[in-house]
Amino acid sequence: MNGTEDHWAKALRSHWGLDARLTRLDGEYDLNFLVHAKNGQDYVLKVMRVDCQPELVDLQIKALDHLATSAPGLPFPKVFPSLDGLELPSIGDEQGQPRLVWLLEYLSGRCYADAKPKTTDLILKLGRVLGATDRALEQFSHNGLNRSDFKWDLVQASWIRRKLDIITNADRREILQDIVRDFTRISGQLNRLPKQAIHNDANDYNILVQGELSERRSVSGLIDLGDMCAAPRVCELAIAGAYVVLDHPKPERALASLVQGYHAANRLCAEEIDLVWPLLRMRLAVSIVNSTLMAAEHPDDPYVTISQAPAWRFLESDNVNEGLMSARLRAACGLPVVDGAERILAYLNAHRGHFAKMFEVDLNEAPMGSLSVENSTWPQNPFHMPLDEAARVGEEFGEGFWLGYYNEPRLIYTEPGFRKGPWKASDRRTVHLAVDVFAPAGTVLHAPVSGRVEAVENRTAHLDYGGVVILHHETPEGDPFYTLYGHLDSEACARLKPGDPVAQGAAFARLGNPSQNGGWAPHVHFQLALTTDGMQTDWPGVGDPDELDLWHAVCPNPAALLNLSDEKVFYRPTDKLSVLQNRQAHFGGNLSLTYDDPVMLVRGWKHHLFDEWGRPYLDAYNNVPHVGHAHPRIQLVAADQLKRMNSNTRYLHPAQTAFAEKLLSKLPDQFEVCYFVNSGSEANELALRLARAHTGAKGIVTPDHGYHGNTNAAVAISAYKFNKPRGVGKANWVELVEVADDYRGSFRRDDPVRAAKFADLVDPAIASLKQKGHGLSAFIAETFPSVGGQIIPPSGYLSAVYEKVRVAGGVCIADEVQTGLGRLGEFYFGFEHQQALPDVVVMGKPIGNGHPLGVVVTTREIAESFDNGIEFFSTFGGSTLSCRIGKEVLDIVDDEGLQENASLMGARLKDGLINLQDGFSQIGDVRGMGLFLGVELVNLDGTEGTEICGYVKNRMRDHRILIGSEGPKDNILKIRPPLTIGAEDVDMILWAMRNVLSEIGDYVPAATCDHDHHHAGCSCC
Ligand SMILES: Cc1ncc(COP(=O)(O)O)c(C=O)c1O
Repeated sequence: MNGTEDHWAKALRSHWGLDARLTRLDGEYDLNFLVHAKNGQDYVLKVMRVDCQPELVDLQIKALDHLATSAPGLPFPKVFPSLDGLELPSIGDEQGQPRLVWLLEYLSGRCYADAKPKTTDLILKLGRVLGATDRALEQFSHNGLNRSDFKWDLVQASWIRRKLDIITNADRREILQDIVRDFTRISGQLNRLPKQAIHNDANDYNILVQGELSERRSVSGLIDLGDMCAAPRVCELAIAGAYVVLDHPKPERALASLVQGYHAANRLCAEEIDLVWPLLRMRLAVSIVNSTLMAAEHPDDPYVTISQAPAWRFLESDNVNEGLMSARLRAACGLPVVDGAERILAYLNAHRGHFAKMFEVDLNEAPMGSLSVENSTWPQNPFHMPLDEAARVGEEFGEGFWLGYYNEPRLIYTEPGFRKGPWKASDRRTVHLAVDVFAPAGTVLHAPVSGRVEAVENRTAHLDYGGVVILHHETPEGDPFYTLYGHLDSEACARLKPGDPVAQGAAFARLGNPSQNGGWAPHVHFQLALTTDGMQTDWPGVGDPDELDLWHAVCPNPAALLNLSDEKVFYRPTDKLSVLQNRQAHFGGNLSLTYDDPVMLVRGWKHHLFDEWGRPYLDAYNNVPHVGHAHPRIQLVAADQLKRMNSNTRYLHPAQTAFAEKLLSKLPDQFEVCYFVNSGSEANELALRLARAHTGAKGIVTPDHGYHGNTNAAVAISAYKFNKPRGVGKANWVELVEVADDYRGSFRRDDPVRAAKFADLVDPAIASLKQKGHGLSAFIAETFPSVGGQIIPPSGYLSAVYEKVRVAGGVCIADEVQTGLGRLGEFYFGFEHQQALPDVVVMGKPIGNGHPLGVVVTTREIAESFDNGIEFFSTFGGSTLSCRIGKEVLDIVDDEGLQENASLMGARLKDGLINLQDGFSQIGDVRGMGLFLGVELVNLDGTEGTEICGYVKNRMRDHRILIGSEGPKDNILKIRPPLTIGAEDVDMILWAMRNVLSEIGDYVPAATCDHDHHHAGCSCC
């Protein structure tokens, strides 16, 4: 501590009786110290500037006292009085000048500006804190609250109008002029609102946030009440909102969450909510003008203008729909989106059954037809709707009248306009906000209720509306509402014009055919809206499943106008939560689910999957759909074979030998015999039997942390399972050797003979088996250990091990379940990389592309040892269907060049990950080949970053990317997508990974104890 700190440390001792170390904190005019007291507590000591206004300091202290008694749960610091009972004693500084001094509780947390990610959940909580604060402050009064000429009082913000000339860029000045105009327009309303004490400065440095990595974030502090004043409470919200939206990837949703949280704690009225947006913009304008004025005073301080950048980015961007803002914020609070919304809905409800029939038939008799993600496979490729398919959509429901659901998530909207981001797996609008009536082209439409034409357009783009008419109606009380009719015969566009009256029941249009209606099977898309603000003639016909509160409120179910019940046309996707509950009720607890918030997946295509709401996910994890999800050729052969017959290997069928021949063509010549089974586990069981039959011995050597399946013998050779705390333990006939992991293992990459050293570890293992009388039956290893952490053994390791095993009389089994069939890019099988020749090769997972199939391939010699007169039979193994699918998978890998693609995309991804390693010390190692990749995440001290890995995995899922984690400490990201993955998808993974890693910052895991090491201050031992 230097002189100043010393001086105030002494003052602290004499006035508060605290022994402490002081550290200077930032502060423009006042002296602020962080106080580490010997009693273990931290405080903040504030020494006010000489000419401070005592009344304003008193205001803060009294407000904090008020909050501490009236709302003790809120995260405000307490004020500690001195030994004399004074909260603001006057104490002489080093120069002997009297200074007002106060001592505050220190609140932990990082400031909101540095908190990442800024989730809507956190923002909602912030809203709650602000709402509850203002509620508590309602009863607080103080003379210091009425601050005239106070530049930060939003009610007085029009002072900037006289200063706008300081903004030299004309475009920018115009933006601010616009904002000031809007502010002037609402000033009357603002002035009529009651005033109360508010914090008035919830900026991102005054909000403290707690929670690391996967912990839920909470607001741990709201500090600096120095700008308090009396103002309408909506100013509080607008000021916080001005910071919350800046650089937020979804500013509208962020603001809606803030307002929703505030409203939950402190009910707002619709009129106040409508002021949030113009006030928020005005606050940004005030900040900009203020900092520009300061920049003029301090021309050398670059910080002043740098700090404006986010505000300009926001004001100049066009990613906010301002027209829809009021509806959005109102909907977030559960308030009517427009004044009169309740009257309109009551009117529609009261007249249900009495509106004019839109068609000459009774739609109550028409069947519903579902085009939902779950119920339908339109379109086969959810990223591309060919014209031919669009024109046939729903043909299974017949040519008569049938209805399409409101609130139904669909994958038929494939055009880029429905996508909300640059990637295929970006959010997309899927949920239908209208009711469809399918009927033959030319069918005449009648207006259900009178109105006038609001708009009429012919939208000729592919899969757009074709002819579209919007009608304007009014309830008897004069509340306007609107109806939209899409996919009409474009003849209506020439006939109707805005303003034309349309009488109730009048025939005003016809259903278009695909050449007139955007290309679709003939139907009308019938949508209701309570406002056209922010939509004008461009209504979204489908909404983002994560914004349904807004869209249900703006575009309610139009069933009443069709004289139908709401229930008939309202679609409800399967409820994920009830599936989860049923699963918990009917399945064992150790059937695990990935992710803190599990995903339910109902459709797939190539390397993408879709949940029940049609949200897309990039599948960068699943290796089973080797040639892609829902591959049309697999669908075809499976359906074709099931139409014929499906039987077993006791009967001849050419599909069996065709599959075997195709498979053997991919293997070295010595492999001549195939056994077909149903899974990798069963294949490994069989491989052990072959080895034992051939050697007459029982002992097995296998690397640590390996996995070979879930059956008894497979578990016995899988250290990953038997060595778990409550695992069955190692069998006497099994010996483990260290995994050849040259990143973290005993021999590292700087050792040129590490392969041989790792290989030498099998010698004592073999000796031990022999000594125990088991002899050596086999060495079995995943060629590249996968659950062990996506490890590529140093080159030559496996060939050296195999040599030793053979000398000892054992059989070499290569488990290629994870690595085989081209995934590695350069190699079809992993053993090729090791220049090793196994005696038995085990395959599973990808070989059936999801159909249960396992294969064991071996030499004639070993097969003959096994052929001891006892039949080998696997009922389903080698079924006709399995053989056709297995062969088709292998053919597709060849026909589509998927091994080549694995090589190219794997290199692109690996290079990108290695580049990321430069910027993020959390990436300890990037390894693998082709599309078999591992990213080892580490803490700052190089130890296994288990928590970091869990965080990254879950956050990647938030970005709609599925990846897994593995390794003894679960700190290795496992990336092994279907081999169809493309360059755009690889780039998405890299983009998201960069984003997520940048959220981690300087995270250090909490110290934990083991038996040998106890961390400082530990209470567990
Ligand atoms: C290397 C390896 N071998 C065998 C198996 C077992 O395969 P299955 O689950 O089909 O029985 C697995 C499964 O993950 C595996 O990764």
